[in-house]
Amino acid sequence: MTHTTLPYTIHRGDALQVLRGLADASVDAVITDPPYCSGGQTMAARARPTGEKYINSGSKAPLPDFEGDFRDQRGFLAWASQWLAECHRVTKPGGHLLAFIDWRMLPTMTDAVQVAGWVWQGIVVWDKTGGCRPQRGRFRSQAEYVVWASRGPLDIKAHPVVLPGVLPVHPQLGGKQHQVGKPESLMEKLLAIVPPASTVLDPFMGSATTGVAALRAGHHFVGVEMSEGYFDVAEKRLQREPPNRFVQ
Ligand SMILES: C[S@@+](CC[C@H](N)C(=O)[O-])C[C@H]1O[C@@H](n2cnc3c(N)ncnc32)[C@H](O)[C@@H]1O
Repeated sequence: MTHTTLPYTIHRGDALQVLRGLADASVDAVITDPPYCSGGQTMAARARPTGEKYINSGSKAPLPDFEGDFRDQRGFLAWASQWLAECHRVTKPGGHLLAFIDWRMLPTMTDAVQVAGWVWQGIVVWDKTGGCRPQRGRFRSQAEYVVWASRGPLDIKAHPVVLPGVLPVHPQLGGKQHQVGKPESLMEKLLAIVPPASTVLDPFMGSATTGVAALRAGHHFVGVEMSEGYFDVAEKRLQREPPNRFVQ
């Protein structure tokens, strides 16, 4: 992949189409937070707007809905297997995949990761600590999951870090730039698995939280977003990041 003087390259479009245009073995890691296609047990419930499914009705200043959050379990398996296979092709041997998902779609995501040819290495837990809705008569939905895999065997000697498997990070409350944006500090903790001066790909970048954390850690970033509004948010956010001395 050719880099401009900027430490990031972002594309507006459909992830699968854009991924098909990227060169083989051109990124070191894929860290992504795709639409979970969750938020309901029936097709009708899943097809509701994302703001209805994922946001508390009392939220102020609602952010725009996002794309692609409508598939059922079988549709998600077929679709995710395709983009995960493309991600596998564009990742260097030994590179990492970290893909967010929730409890409903976790079994489907781990199937898709394996169908796509990745070596499934484990699951990292995002513990939202106290930052989730209390629900009477139920266990709190206090965690989301990050499915971790590698392209072939891991090269542990290349980056012998020792990392926790549970990441306690309170969800961001104010100042969010995406309806379901992830906290920057969570992305920073995940990026610790990636060797220095890597190229990190997020094919569902939303507001580019992965990108901001990647640039701050001295990596290059490649992002894709389908929604025009969120692409613009991502671009502005990345532009605001000061040049990092590690990026060449
Ligand atoms: C869960 S959000 C990512 C949020 C991001 N982690 C953040 O912190 O802002 C998933 C994003 O993927 C985008 N998306 C959905 N389907 C897509 C597709 N086929 N190609 C590219 N982007 C897509 C959505 O518009 C949405 O912004």
